[in-house]
Amino acid sequence: MGSAIVRRLEKEGYSELLLASRAEVDLRDQAAVNRWFAANRPEYVFLAAGTVGGIWANSTRPAEFIYDNLMIHATVVHAAWRTGVKKLLYLGSSCIYPRLAEQPMAEGALLTGALEPTNEPYAVAKIAGIKLCQAYRKQYGCDFVSAMPTNLYGPGDNFDPQGSHVLPALIRKFHEARIAGRSTVTIWGTGTPRREFLFVDDLADACVFLMRHYDGDEHVNVGTGEDLSIRELAELVRDVVAPGLRLEFDASKPDGMPRKRLDVSRLRGLGWRHRTGLREGIEATYRWLVAELETGRVRGWAAGPPVRATRSAS
Ligand SMILES: NC(=O)c1ccc[n+]([C@@H]2O[C@H](COP(=O)([O-])OP(=O)(O)OC[C@H]3O[C@@H](n4cnc5c(N)ncnc54)[C@H](OP(=O)(O)O)[C@@H]3O)[C@@H](O)[C@H]2O)c1
Repeated sequence: MGSAIVRRLEKEGYSELLLASRAEVDLRDQAAVNRWFAANRPEYVFLAAGTVGGIWANSTRPAEFIYDNLMIHATVVHAAWRTGVKKLLYLGSSCIYPRLAEQPMAEGALLTGALEPTNEPYAVAKIAGIKLCQAYRKQYGCDFVSAMPTNLYGPGDNFDPQGSHVLPALIRKFHEARIAGRSTVTIWGTGTPRREFLFVDDLADACVFLMRHYDGDEHVNVGTGEDLSIRELAELVRDVVAPGLRLEFDASKPDGMPRKRLDVSRLRGLGWRHRTGLREGIEATYRWLVAELETGRVRGWAAGPPVRATRSAS
């Protein structure tokens, strides 16, 4: 997300971008974050850092998911207030909504029911981020706004089998199966849950839009408003990456929330909608991946024998 926002801002000609990478500052450390803000004095802040991952990562590293995210949100919001940041956009997640929230999930569904157990610690931290922005707005008059993106994918994604989200995980599985000459790919879960996906460059566009045009207290959903089943998604990725391969579903693995589609009418009402169709976005992501594999720079793809790309996405 962060690199897509940087791409988007650079394209518009913004040149004074301050990037608080992990190498420069551990965002969980309030003193270090205070020092970074005092030294750099940013005017506008996109808070896109966090500990992120799919069902496997969330269920095996719950302490990291709640601690890291709670701390990152709190330190950055607090330092932004202390140094008089003009505006801050906090990026949460659609995981904040209750497991059985009415579909599509409108902003008002927040805190109306129990959360999905497989990512509850992460969701609690993400909800705390919204409440932080609202509290600093209420007490100190800060112009801090929150956006809740749906599942993202695109160039720069994480392809680590232990830490990735479903879409990059599927791209990798099909790519490796094709290279290895396997005829079947096994997918986690039943294939029936439904999910929504937003191309990361569309998300970056929405972030810049909200930074310019939104100054409300309520968070705003960011997505396409369209979903599909994991089976349909797997078939689509298969058709782009490895046509003809057979799919098998391992129902002993967890499914996560049954449905997760955002109601995006608030954002559409403000005047923004996505541009990239899902197939087009998957093709662009796979083209990017194939090119990057040749250089060996793909995140989460260090392990195992070298996997050479032999075919480009159509
Ligand atoms: N991906 C999605 O589908 C999705 C959907 C909805 C919302 N979000 C939210 O969007 C935000 C960004 O997600 P993403 O997918 O872009 O994740 P990502 O690719 O893993 O990027 C997260 C970034 O945060 C940095 N970071 C993590 N902990 C840090 C720390 N303690 N100090 C400094 N930097 C730290 C990471 O640095 P390193 O590279 O050094 O680890 C990385 O650059 C997160 O808040 C996430 O909850 C993501």
